[in-house]
Amino acid sequence: MTDSHDHMSDDNFIDSLGRPLRDLRISVTDRCNFRCQYCMPKEIFGPEFKFLRRQDIMSFEEITRIASLATSLGVKKFRLTGGEPLLRADLHKLIRQLHRIPDIEIALTTNGTLLKNHAQLLAESGLDRVTVSLDSLDDQIFRQMNDVDFPVRDVLEGIEVADRFGLGPIKVNAVVRKDVNDHTLLDLATYFRGTPHIVRFIEFMDVGNSNGWVMDEVIPSSKVLDLIGNIFPLEQLPSNYSGEVANRFRYKDGKGEIGLISSITAPFCENCTRARLSADGKFFTCLFASGGTDLLQEIRSGATDEHLTQILRSIWLSRGDRYSEIRTEYMRSLPEDKKIEMSYIGG
Ligand code: GTP
Ligand code: 5AD
Ligand code: SF4
Ligand code: SF4
Repeated sequence: MTDSHDHMSDDNFIDSLGRPLRDLRISVTDRCNFRCQYCMPKEIFGPEFKFLRRQDIMSFEEITRIASLATSLGVKKFRLTGGEPLLRADLHKLIRQLHRIPDIEIALTTNGTLLKNHAQLLAESGLDRVTVSLDSLDDQIFRQMNDVDFPVRDVLEGIEVADRFGLGPIKVNAVVRKDVNDHTLLDLATYFRGTPHIVRFIEFMDVGNSNGWVMDEVIPSSKVLDLIGNIFPLEQLPSNYSGEVANRFRYKDGKGEIGLISSITAPFCENCTRARLSADGKFFTCLFASGGTDLLQEIRSGATDEHLTQILRSIWLSRGDRYSEIRTEYMRSLPEDKKIEMSYIGG
């Protein structure tokens, strides 16, 4: 649009495939206290693993600066992710800073382990809602999946506390893995049925290089739909907004809602409005990108707001990513270790 309106949000700004920029997912740390095998397997993320160094991680001021500039391109939602975002000290202070930016929703994706202690301060600082990753209610299976023997009960408590402080309705994300937790999905749905919380079942994705993904391990969402719908009849609901990743279904008896995230069997790149910022300040236009633009380096070498905005604009303008839609072709052409890890870039 016109240069004289640079300070205003440009909601019509679109990438090369016609997609606006709406969500900025901000990773605040690449560390996690879990070692989910599909994300940070112990064999790779062990004591020897080199996580980002403190000085290479963005300060809250640096994050807020980039986030604020991104809103001038149309961003309406910040989602704080990790690793585990609550491992970042004083996260509420970042939320307080981000909260000063007008008309933005602030959400947090967490494994829930630290919610009990932090929910109140987070809510008071301006966090709007939380999404909690929880793959199974079966304690044995949950302990096995997080691979650090963490009990399910503390996560459930975290969800309750977060709800009490107004961070609900809470979305509960469950990654579905064949022969691991697929026989416990109905339990999970049943537990949250009759509450405002929304369980979302996620197809296991081929993200990163370390999780040993194979197509055979994916349970298609259509199966999950049958599994739950056969016990509790479901009907589809329209999307809340264009670009929503989950397909929504409501229980016909009015007892709530579930979601299915089908990135493998029904990719949603066509409406993908997300950009990602890694903890060390690189800007990525796709979850499966093999490289990002180093904004932190620009900031630390003195870039002006105008220059940074110009960089963001030109990246988004030429964005043509649609990895999930072209997965097969792409996999054949990409060197083995070229994808970024989800724990680094944030789910
Ligand atoms: P809300 O609709 O506001 O709750 O946000 P969201 O659904 O974007 O947030 P969430 O972090 O809960 O995303 C849910 C899951 O969908 C993620 O954990 C990923 O597994 C998957 N997902 C999210 N964004 C993308 C994406 O851009 N590409 C792909 N392939 N998968 C994604
Ligand atoms: N496939 C699907 N979802 C994944 N997540 C992490 N790794 C994968 C994967 N390989 C999910 C987490 C969390 C969110 C941030 O991303 O379970 O809910
Ligand atoms: Fe598990 Fe999330 Fe931690 Fe990855 S970042 S290991 S999915 S809890
Ligand atoms: Fe968006 Fe890339 Fe995911 Fe497609 S694969 S939905 S373009 S992040």
